[in-house]
Amino acid sequence: MSTKHESSVITYSDSSSLDARSELFGMLYDYPSTEEEKERSLGLFLRGSLLARIFAIREIYEKIVMKPGIIVDLGTWRGQTAVICENLRAIFEPLHFNRRIAAFDTFEGYKGFSDKDKPTDLHKDGTYSTGIDYADLLSNLLVLHEKNNAMGHNYGKHKVIAGDCRITLPQFFKDNSNEVVALAFFDVNAIEPTLEGFETIHKRLVKGGIIAFWQLTRNAINAEGTVFADYIMDKYNYNIHRSQFYPGLCYIVKE
Ligand SMILES: C[S@@+](CC[C@H](N)C(=O)[O-])C[C@H]1O[C@@H](n2cnc3c(N)ncnc32)[C@H](O)[C@@H]1O
Repeated sequence: MSTKHESSVITYSDSSSLDARSELFGMLYDYPSTEEEKERSLGLFLRGSLLARIFAIREIYEKIVMKPGIIVDLGTWRGQTAVICENLRAIFEPLHFNRRIAAFDTFEGYKGFSDKDKPTDLHKDGTYSTGIDYADLLSNLLVLHEKNNAMGHNYGKHKVIAGDCRITLPQFFKDNSNEVVALAFFDVNAIEPTLEGFETIHKRLVKGGIIAFWQLTRNAINAEGTVFADYIMDKYNYNIHRSQFYPGLCYIVKE
């Protein structure tokens, strides 16, 4: 696949850093070692900004360990946040089998841009599609991580839900009327899905629960900032913070 991802188009890196990124990733394929040693040493190829993302997810996860409820990953895309959360679950709370993760995406790309949004070539209906079959691949990936983790005989806790979250998220809580939310990551980046997602999650979020927004202060993608400033800030009782390790990631804590 040669399509450029936005991380190499909208970036703070200059061209020599992007070249180094590409060279580093290329080394993964012809690194001189056994497969087992390479598998054991994957951190060799993990660049700092990805590590910062993992730190940031961990920074937030730690705050909800003593709160009940599921984790929602809204706009999961390839599912990296959901996978990291399963691994953090196994590290921080290996016996907490009720820490279910529900990962939502259309898997057919963005959906719900309207004339209130500012779509770009990279962010408009249909971009970021992984193909609908990716939902099954991600479910399987999550199970493999569960099986690799402590108490791995207890697997199949998590759900991957395909479709427009304006429909699937309320439907999820209708079908699972017992579920409350400890933590939700948002990354759907059009105003309507972000706002409707917030209203649904807010009703299910426990006190002290967290909603984390990947793009809240980003200028080029304005939906989360707009929803926060116009609908959340003055009307709902939340405290806002930014991540120490990944400053773009902002999170609000329900009072
Ligand atoms: C920027 S990507 C998410 C990246 C991901 N959160 C990560 O950290 O790797 C945005 C995702 O939101 C999904 N999305 C956009 N609008 C949606 C909607 N209305 N319902 C469900 N998913 C949606 C897109 O398909 C896309 O995969």
